[in-house]
Amino acid sequence: MRIAVTGGAGYIGSVVTEVLIQEGHEVLVLDNLVKGHRDAVAPEAIFAEIDLLDGSSITAVLRGFRCDAVIHMAAASLVGESVTAPAKYYRQNVVAGLALLDAMRDAGVAQLVFSSTAAVYGEPAKQPIEEDDPTTPTNPYGDTKLAVEHMLRWYAGAYGLSSSSLRYFNAAGATALNGERHDPETHLIPLVLDAAAGRRPDITIFGDDYPTPDGTCIRDYVHVEDLARAHVLALGGLAAPGICRVYNLGCGGLGYSVRDVIDTARRVTGREIPIQRAPRRPGDPARLVASSERIRRELGWTPQYSELAPIISSAWEWLRRRHLVD
Ligand SMILES: NC(=O)c1ccc[n+]([C@@H]2O[C@H](COP(=O)([O-])OP(=O)(O)OC[C@H]3O[C@@H](n4cnc5c(N)ncnc54)[C@H](O)[C@@H]3O)[C@@H](O)[C@H]2O)c1
Repeated sequence: MRIAVTGGAGYIGSVVTEVLIQEGHEVLVLDNLVKGHRDAVAPEAIFAEIDLLDGSSITAVLRGFRCDAVIHMAAASLVGESVTAPAKYYRQNVVAGLALLDAMRDAGVAQLVFSSTAAVYGEPAKQPIEEDDPTTPTNPYGDTKLAVEHMLRWYAGAYGLSSSSLRYFNAAGATALNGERHDPETHLIPLVLDAAAGRRPDITIFGDDYPTPDGTCIRDYVHVEDLARAHVLALGGLAAPGICRVYNLGCGGLGYSVRDVIDTARRVTGREIPIQRAPRRPGDPARLVASSERIRRELGWTPQYSELAPIISSAWEWLRRRHLVD
């Protein structure tokens, strides 16, 4: 297929592009490089430096590429920033999302995989979280992703757009070519590995008195390549018009605590990782784990990485290859 990847110069989008190329697809990456890296885009892909808000240019580029489907990864995605700068999030995620959907309609592209987030669930009443559980986001980031999901539902009925939305928590790990390069970095695994590499003095544990076995928060981590394969898999079955699906992507187990991550990183790297303790952060639930049963059952998604150690190890290897380890 001929597939456009928005945000394909970013962390997950660069790996989605890698997987699409491995599977023989032709890829057009659309990215304004506000957060992405030009050198993360596979050389086999066509690259257009473009902002999704520029709808008429997006239509022209999709038409010129004779695009069959879009995988939409571009977004602003910092939860904390979304609370202090909601205008940016509604513009980057909702207004740009709408511009993309309308550009697709104008260009006659009727299939979309949308990178949503498990933040749409807010503070869930039960774990693991399933797709039909209530969606009550507690921050603008989750709310903007949910708004796009709502658009997809109405666009399916009115215009025949077919879509799959994928909801997940923490992408982690790296391939041989691409890994996490966020600035600022807010994700636990790269921060822990920066501490192991001597690039930061220590790692802070926010709260060790949660009702979990070791007192620290439990979260879901999915290897970036497994996530990328799920995005490609989710393209299948969208050929008929008006399909609107939602799938969670989770690690498939009970999740991992902050202490599990730090202890595993110590084992994998053989390095000291100094810790600081701090009080709980407001709005941090004790446990957030998503059930992946639906996508396993319906699309046969089988993650290759089911343990934390190989996930962390892949991220560490990637830092070493980039000479970022002292
Ligand atoms: N990283 C995670 O753990 C995680 C978890 C759940 C969901 N997600 C979602 O996955 C997607 C990718 O996340 P990521 O971590 O790779 O993010 P990222 O910041 O590394 O990549 C996003 C890319 O989108 C581009 N972009 C942003 N706004 C744009 C615009 N208006 N026009 C064109 N390009 C634009 C950026 O330049 C960047 O390359 C996001 O939609 C995010 O919400 C990520």
